[in-house]
Amino acid sequence: MERTTPVIPAQDVAKQREYCQEIRAINAQHAQAPTAFVDTYGCQQNEADSELLRGMLCEMGYEIVHDGEHADLILINTCAIREHAEQRVFGNVGALVHGKRRNPNQIICLCGCMAQEPHVVERLRQSYQHVDLVFGPQVLWRFPEFMRRIYLRRGRVFETAPAEGAIAEGLPVRRSGKIKAWVSIMYGCNNFCTYCIVPYTRGRERSREPEIILSEIRQLVAEGYKDITLLGQNVNSYGKDLGTGMDFPTLLEQANAIEGEFLLRFMTSHPKDATQRLFDVMAKCEKVAPCIHLPFQSGNTRVLSAMNRRYTREQYLDKVKALRERIPNVVLTSDVIVGFPGETTPEFEDTLSLIEEVRYDALFTFIYSPRKGTPAAEMEDPLSREEKSANFNRLVEAQNRISLEKHQAYIGTIQHCLVDGESEDPRNNLNARTPGGRLVHLNGDVGLIGQFVDVKITDYSTWALFGELI
Ligand code: 5AD
Ligand code: SF4
Repeated sequence: MERTTPVIPAQDVAKQREYCQEIRAINAQHAQAPTAFVDTYGCQQNEADSELLRGMLCEMGYEIVHDGEHADLILINTCAIREHAEQRVFGNVGALVHGKRRNPNQIICLCGCMAQEPHVVERLRQSYQHVDLVFGPQVLWRFPEFMRRIYLRRGRVFETAPAEGAIAEGLPVRRSGKIKAWVSIMYGCNNFCTYCIVPYTRGRERSREPEIILSEIRQLVAEGYKDITLLGQNVNSYGKDLGTGMDFPTLLEQANAIEGEFLLRFMTSHPKDATQRLFDVMAKCEKVAPCIHLPFQSGNTRVLSAMNRRYTREQYLDKVKALRERIPNVVLTSDVIVGFPGETTPEFEDTLSLIEEVRYDALFTFIYSPRKGTPAAEMEDPLSREEKSANFNRLVEAQNRISLEKHQAYIGTIQHCLVDGESEDPRNNLNARTPGGRLVHLNGDVGLIGQFVDVKITDYSTWALFGELI
């Protein structure tokens, strides 16, 4: 069988790289390389996309800088998941007008999920005239072409038409770290949870070819990367469009077979597609980290159904049980939404009782934020803001207690940790991660960064563990 989702022909990607060289030649006429600042909001997929955008900018002859205001080019990679993230972007984009007045040659670009929301695009068009280029995630690979249009002074560029999306391979990448790396295995989402904007902004699910993913991982391992996270909105649907029978557990097994000392993580897993086979593969693959992010969103079956999550509370709890039977010490994290339209306080209590039953290691808690164009934004929402906040606070309090208790249980244990960076606290100058991904602060030589070490856990807080090298 053939794959059912499109792949961009190699010559089209090569053309983009030619545009990079064209722009590079123009940039080389200046005494100094122009500078570019890429500002990233939102999820890991956006972080990964920004690494590609930086790769393309380097190829265009830009020097990447980490401070925006004075850069010759500012690219804002946006997130649309909640109102709050959007407000921050609008605030920051608005503030750029002054810099642009001082330096009219500055190029200001906005990409990412907000660029796929019609009301955002309209607002940018009308009220943010200093923004030169706006483009959505599905056409990210055409960034050089859009830049070329800007260089040829053809006015503002808006490439924001809704797009299904395709797979583009062979783009340059400039990674931010030397130890941890993201590898996108698929893009888009087909699930249409009723609160979520992502299926509208990132198009349909499409998978990269396994050989390409595996060779990228091999390359990363050869370069010394130790902690590799496979990314997708729902990694458990990986392969469905390939037409070869390939699936996510098989990809994990093949990645696990790559030689070297490194850890494999993945996110995100939709519970409805998390199978016994996935848990079995996780248990038997020694490089697959013993952790999983398994968003439950609500502990109440009626609310789950209104969210279009396609599992019940009981089915979710059964999956957790099956997972823990296979991997008893698995580190379990999750996302939850409080105040979904129509959620009553008794229904919210089911969310509270679910976290008490599951006892997550950590929880990402969100108050529902209506997103224009999604079904939930049209639903009746009678619960007051105050009541939602009160429920939210109860949830956070309960989880903080659970996280603290879970961390307390680490005291005296020895954890095989990857030292992954320096911390800001001089008493505990290094940061490390347990195999399950919990943060550990410890004291040691910075030369240990990038190495696996055994650490005895001596102290804890709600957010982190503290330990000593042994
Ligand atoms: N409001 C609040 N939280 C949301 N999420 C997604 N959409 C919304 C929304 N409209 C949360 C979900 C998801 C996480 C990435 O963000 O919990 O798992
Ligand atoms: Fe959004 Fe649901 Fe897709 Fe996750 S699975 S990105 S919550 S629609």
